[in-house]
Amino acid sequence: MGGSWPAVVLVVVAYSAAAAGVLGPAAPSPPQPPSLLPVPSALSSAASTATPGGPVPPLRHIFAQFPADNGTSYRFNHLAMDPNTGKLYAAAVNHLFQLDPALRVEETVATGPRADSPHCHAKGCMSPSIAMTRTDNVNKVLIVNTESKTLIACGSVSQGACEKYKLGNISLTPEFIPVGIAANDESSSTYAFIGPERYQYWGSTNVLYVGTTFTDNGEYRHDVPAISTLELHNLSFAEFTFSKQSVVHIDVKYRDHFLVQYVYGFNASEYAYFVIVQKQSHLPGQEELGYVTRLARTCINDANYDSYTEVTLQCITQSGENYNLVQDAKVFGAGQELASNLGISVGQPILVGVFAPSQTISNDPQERSALCVYSLQDIESKFTENIHMCFNGSIKYRNMEYISGPIMDGKCPSAGVSVT
Ligand SMILES: *[C@@H]1O[C@H](CO)[C@@H](O)[C@H](O)[C@H]1NC(C)=O
Ligand SMILES: *[C@@H]1O[C@H](CO)[C@@H](O)[C@H](O)[C@H]1NC(C)=O
Ligand SMILES: *[C@@H]1O[C@H](CO)[C@@H](O)[C@H](O)[C@H]1NC(C)=O
Ligand SMILES: *[C@@H]1O[C@H](CO)[C@@H](O)[C@H](O)[C@H]1NC(C)=O
Ligand SMILES: *[C@@H]1O[C@H](CO)[C@@H](O)[C@H](O)[C@H]1NC(C)=O
Repeated sequence: MGGSWPAVVLVVVAYSAAAAGVLGPAAPSPPQPPSLLPVPSALSSAASTATPGGPVPPLRHIFAQFPADNGTSYRFNHLAMDPNTGKLYAAAVNHLFQLDPALRVEETVATGPRADSPHCHAKGCMSPSIAMTRTDNVNKVLIVNTESKTLIACGSVSQGACEKYKLGNISLTPEFIPVGIAANDESSSTYAFIGPERYQYWGSTNVLYVGTTFTDNGEYRHDVPAISTLELHNLSFAEFTFSKQSVVHIDVKYRDHFLVQYVYGFNASEYAYFVIVQKQSHLPGQEELGYVTRLARTCINDANYDSYTEVTLQCITQSGENYNLVQDAKVFGAGQELASNLGISVGQPILVGVFAPSQTISNDPQERSALCVYSLQDIESKFTENIHMCFNGSIKYRNMEYISGPIMDGKCPSAGVSVT
């Protein structure tokens, strides 16, 4: 470390939540000049590891070797901590580890390879004629549920079904829940987080919000929604009646080639959000428009996802270069310096994203990165502005034909009130 690091030239701390949730591909939103802010030292040192021009490891996966002594290597992909005990849970391909707060391994569980076929239901293979093969189990979701003291782990086998382990000892036989939740291949994205639901006026419960990239790997994938809200205890849809369903599907017409990557998710005030990467246009033949990063949002008191809307998140340098692909993101409370730069109070939520420019029109990132910071307050007003523009006639449609089902006015319904 120290003085040997080259000057960081590509670190940008900018704010710009551009209106695009309601813009059609024919009229893309004009890039808004982000207001550039001085780089706070804590953030610039974090970002400075992305050395321009140097060999930068991809940010999407962390590969690690553990333990290294006998040559066995593990491909780690998720880490979760129990805030009550300080225990860490690490998931790798075919393995799950439980570590104590001093990082000593307490328990190891083999989660794969397993005999599996994408043509079998999560419950198992009903027909003996389907050939199963030994398949690596790539961990897709790893979440600590402190309320029930369980670790929810979903892998790529068995249609992305999940197992619930005891936080105290993952070696005890887990509860298997035979419902397809995560993506059922190695590379397609899944992001899940625990957040509140307030579908009834008399109370709020915690649920699992899940975003899963569509795969055409087998005939069961059409049952897996793009985004859904699940009961934590049995992973059933939080709402699934004739009139209300707590799911969003990508329209079957576009599903195969309009693949949405779910990078991050969080809740703030009365909304649940996903940070996503998708093609700028869902229409075949408009691939040359490339990819955008968007923020998808639904109200936590909307049991039918009628309030589902999106805005584009832009991360553009002063010279106008568009870092269009988010690589990872996180919500934090703003520290003093950042809060005063963004005009918010200390501790108010901010979204920090690491972005990379795409290689031409693909969603492969270039080996450069920039950090952009958005205040949730500004994000919320951008959503509100989009919704107003939608309804005062300045923009006639939402450009979200790829979302099946009705899309209402984007306002949150009152809890327990039917919006239909
Ligand atoms: C290496 O060590 C790990 C953990 O101690 C063990 O599970 C694995 O079987 C070992 N591999 C070989 C090749 O001995
Ligand atoms: C976890 O359970 C296994 C099997 O019952 C037992 O052998 C092991 O000692 C337990 N580990 C801890 C940390 O309690
Ligand atoms: C899951 O739990 C809910 C109640 O919380 C219940 O209505 C639903 O039927 C359960 N689903 C299954 C598959 O048991
Ligand atoms: C998100 O939801 C959790 C669980 O319901 C809650 O404790 C937390 O305060 C919420 N976060 C924000 C920023 O509203
Ligand atoms: C529609 O609302 C937007 C955002 O509030 C505003 O900027 C625009 O001027 C309005 N257009 C009309 C035609 O009223």
